[in-house]
Order: sequence, then structure tokens, then C-alpha cells
Amino acid sequence: MLSSDTRPIGVFDSGIGGLTVLRELAVRFPQENFLYLGDTARLPYGSKSPSTIRKYSEQNIHFLEKQHVKAIVIACNTASSQLTEREFDGLPIYNVIEPGSQRALEKSSAKKIGVLGTRATVNSQAYRKKILELHPQAEVFDQACPLFVPLAEEGWDSDPVTNLIVFRYVSPLLGHSIDTLILGCTHYPILKSAISRVTGSAVELVDSGEAIAHWLDRDFTEGRLGKNASQDERTIEIMTTDHSAHFTEVAHRILTPLTPHSFRVVDL
Ligand code: DGL
Repeated sequence: MLSSDTRPIGVFDSGIGGLTVLRELAVRFPQENFLYLGDTARLPYGSKSPSTIRKYSEQNIHFLEKQHVKAIVIACNTASSQLTEREFDGLPIYNVIEPGSQRALEKSSAKKIGVLGTRATVNSQAYRKKILELHPQAEVFDQACPLFVPLAEEGWDSDPVTNLIVFRYVSPLLGHSIDTLILGCTHYPILKSAISRVTGSAVELVDSGEAIAHWLDRDFTEGRLGKNASQDERTIEIMTTDHSAHFTEVAHRILTPLTPHSFRVVDL
């Protein structure tokens, strides 16, 4: 049994997308402190090369390490597709690819799984490889959706333009009779209603937040990660690498019903 560990859990993404993961984790673990880093100065990651994505991700990890976090959740599929380490300097690192693949296989009866992601994530084939490693008979159909991140960052979750673009990207996957669709980018849950209008209720959607929360839960229960047992009110702090009033506004919307305690700009 581990003693109380009040250190925060570090969570990072290129921008607002990882807030969908933070919300899920912060609701699921109401006692835990969280420190979120959105690398908004260098967004998007999804159109960058593997070596640049890896370099940015390592810098984010080193920065969070210096803030004395107890674990890091890579709340970015693009970064997760390039950085597969389970730990960094002894610090546990949670990557969203394996939890998402596992969750999709649990939900899918036909084992025909669609994957939506950034160009970098789809090009890495990280989901395809992981799903086939876990279930070699599965069929995987992927689709890069480079226009989704700017729509989500803009907060256009229910705009007619978004509906059209979602239809354009998602409808070809339905021709393969998929029964499960991985939202393989943490920005995409922001567009979830538009996506499910196209897929219909017969296709199960899997998002990174739900999948990774399950893994953290398991590690807390099995004692691999220490729980915060303090009676003090927990804190949720948000950091970005660029200043933007728009980010703050969209962040409040995504995080509802949670209220972050602070927003600040940091230098990595
Ligand atoms: N939210 C990130 C992901 O899960 C990437 C967005 C981007 O910067 O392109 O892939």
C-alpha cells in the first residue's frame, strides 16, 4: 500500500484537445491534482514530421518532470504515436494508443474498426499495428482528418461547415461496415455530436479520455500509482506556451462542470 502522493498528474497536448482527456480524468479522480500543458505556440503537431513531434514531446515531458508530477499522460495521439516509452527517468508515462486499441476491441463485435487521426498518427500506423498485435484477425480502416483540429480549436463543434467536413471524412469508412470508430485525436471528441450524426448509433465511438482513465484506475487500484489522500481541495492548473484569450474561453467550455484554478503562460 503506497502512502498518500499529493503530487499532480501531468497531462499534455499540443492545444485544447487534451482537455477532453483532462476532463475525463479529473471527473473520474476527484481527489487528484492536475497540471495541464497545451503547447499552443507550436500547434498543430499532426502535420509535423516524426522527429519534430518526438522532440516537442520530450521537451514537454522534461518540463512537466521539473514541475514534480507523479505521472504523465500524453493526451495527444500524435505524440503518443511517436513516443512509446512506458517511463521516462523512472516517471510513469501513459500513452493513449494501447488503451484506445484495447477499448475498441472490447466494444467491437465484428472486429472491423475505423480510426480517425491526424496525418502523422495515420502515417505512423500506430493504431493499426497495436490493434493487429492484440487481435490479428481484426480489420482496420483509417482516415486522416487534417481539417478537424482547426475546427475544434475554433470551437465550431456544431457549425454546418463542420457537418459537411465530417461527412466527407467519415462516410467512406462506413462503406467498410465498421462497428467501432476510434477518435484517434484528442481534439475529435469536441466534434463528437457531428461525428455520431454521420456514423449513426450502430457505430460505437472510442475516445482517448475514456480509454486512458480506465488504465489509471487500474494502476491506482493495483498500487502502481499513489493516490492523493489529502483532505485539501484539489487543484487543476492549466499552462500554455502562448497567450490566447480564445484558448481560455474554449477551455472553460470543454472543462465544464470543472473550473480550473489557474491559467498561465510558460516557457519550456
Ligand atoms: N490533439 C492531438 C492528437 O491527439 C493533435 C492535434 C494536433 O496538434 O495536430 O493527435
